[in-house]
Amino acid sequence: MIRYLKKYRLFFILAPLFMLGEVSMDLMQPKLMGIIVDEGVLGLSNGGTGDLSLVISVGVKMIALVLFGCFCGIMSGVFANLCSQNYGNDIRKDAFRKVMSLSFEQTDHFSTGSLITRVTNDITQVQNLVMQCIRGFVRTFLLFAGGILCMLTLDLSFGAVLVCALPLIVICVIFFIGKANPKFVILQDKLDKLNDVMQENVSGIRVVKAYVKEDYEKGRFGEANDELVGTQLDVLLLFSYMTPIMNIILNFSIAAVIKIGAIQVGNGSVTPGDVMAAITYISQILNAVMRMTMIFQTVSRGVASGKRIKEILDCEPSIADGDFAGECAVKGKVEFRNVSFAYPDMKNEKVIRDFSLTIMPGETVGILGATGCGKSTLVNLIPRFYDVTEGEVLVDDVDVRSYKLGELRKKVAIALQKSEIFSTSIRENIAWGDPDADDEQIRRAAAVAQALEFIDQKAEGLDTQVTQGGHSLSGGQKQRVAISRAVLKNAEILIFDDTTSALDLKTEAKLYEALKKEYAGMTKIIIAQRVASVKDADRIVVIENGKMAACGSHDDLMESSNIYRDIYDSQLKR
Ligand SMILES: Nc1ncnc2c1ncn2[C@@H]1O[C@H](COP(=O)(O)OP(=O)(O)OP(=O)(O)O)[C@@H](O)[C@H]1O
Ligand SMILES: [Mg+2]
Repeated sequence: MIRYLKKYRLFFILAPLFMLGEVSMDLMQPKLMGIIVDEGVLGLSNGGTGDLSLVISVGVKMIALVLFGCFCGIMSGVFANLCSQNYGNDIRKDAFRKVMSLSFEQTDHFSTGSLITRVTNDITQVQNLVMQCIRGFVRTFLLFAGGILCMLTLDLSFGAVLVCALPLIVICVIFFIGKANPKFVILQDKLDKLNDVMQENVSGIRVVKAYVKEDYEKGRFGEANDELVGTQLDVLLLFSYMTPIMNIILNFSIAAVIKIGAIQVGNGSVTPGDVMAAITYISQILNAVMRMTMIFQTVSRGVASGKRIKEILDCEPSIADGDFAGECAVKGKVEFRNVSFAYPDMKNEKVIRDFSLTIMPGETVGILGATGCGKSTLVNLIPRFYDVTEGEVLVDDVDVRSYKLGELRKKVAIALQKSEIFSTSIRENIAWGDPDADDEQIRRAAAVAQALEFIDQKAEGLDTQVTQGGHSLSGGQKQRVAISRAVLKNAEILIFDDTTSALDLKTEAKLYEALKKEYAGMTKIIIAQRVASVKDADRIVVIENGKMAACGSHDDLMESSNIYRDIYDSQLKR
């Protein structure tokens, strides 16, 4: 992930450089303060007479240095923010792009909540890490090293305090960091869980309310939240022990500096101003070590988050792109050749079994079968939402795995079983099928889908805004918007996965009639539960337990297929 910093290397270099300016100013202050005390107030080299003009001139110098330090601090902050924010922004965009390219199997593997945490919170942690590296770490290290140097130049005897205090502080830091480190990974996992529960509840709020499950869900959320807070508290409590221990060491060190300083002043080797400066330096040094602990915390958390983001960035889409650009002599042919399929997490359980079928260009094929028999799974193999386990699926005589994914999916318009509607206008929802379509084309598609009537009844027509998840539309209206979208795409192959289930029989019949008239040459695959929906198809395929049980026209099947006749009788002959 370091390569993302390359673009911002100028900011990455400028921020610590300005920080060097700020810290240098901080380090000069105690020495100048020492001069004011020794010469300006005590007048050590002037027989005990203070010098007000010296106090003023050194004071002005100190103010000038503070102002310059302030300017450097601001510039360092600006460059550090530019670097870390842009860095995070680039990673976030790439991570999102990667999430979009993942197959269904891979998104299921990560879980929605975890993907959201990774693209949001984890990236913020990594941004904090970069910020700390180029600002916090540099500042602290310079204060630490510069403080030691400055203190030793006052008098080497002060070094004795450092020799005693530093190892103690370092042992303390290592102990606490070692304890806290593994907790950061757990913390992000708990956040994933919380986001999962939150996301499920917000999107499923209607079901939660319908089943009066608010209390149950509150409990589930509370549990996830308690776990998160528990882990967070573990970390915070650990560090709350650390600060007082560090403070004790710091105060003992200051006392030691005063003691050594007093002896040395008595010997005449240092001045009272030097002792004052040494006290400030030892505080700066030990404070730097303490701040380093906080920085290590951010770094550990950032590294844990970085690994989680990397998992996404490194994830190769399991449905890989082919090379074939999609120009074929035939248009609209679909062939299943001895296809078997099992979902990746259930390798032993075949959902489609040895299925073979050739659908010719322009043909309308209906697919019937009991719920869960594998109808959706079968059509999902055509646009390669999943890859076959055995056999081949061919579109226009070419194996779907050979196509560039974009080209293959251009050939297929699919209206899914669950209509996905986005929170934008009805026009935009339909125009997803063809972003270049004008209003007339959109209205024509809506007319075929029998959606125009209800759209025109709305005060704002096509501009009507749909609420998230399409909740402001009825089930049948949502289906018709989704059908309009698929129809507008004007692809070679049109697939309806039980998309007319919420339409009344009359509207459904009008839809199929319009489709037949307006898009005669298009290959149509229509999955349905009702015989009436597929009765007029050229051929009807009956699926039973993932296998083809019968195939033929309505009249053929009525004669030859017991299963079909049973379905027909159960639905139409009351
Ligand atoms: N993502 C998935 N992971 C694992 N198993 C799945 C997945 N999706 C579906 N299944 C299983 O595959 C089988 C076939 O499901 P499919 O959705 O194809 O049925 P269907 O015929 O479309 O049913 P329906 O008429 O209810 O829509 C079912 O047993 C289902 O539980
Ligand atoms: Mg289905």
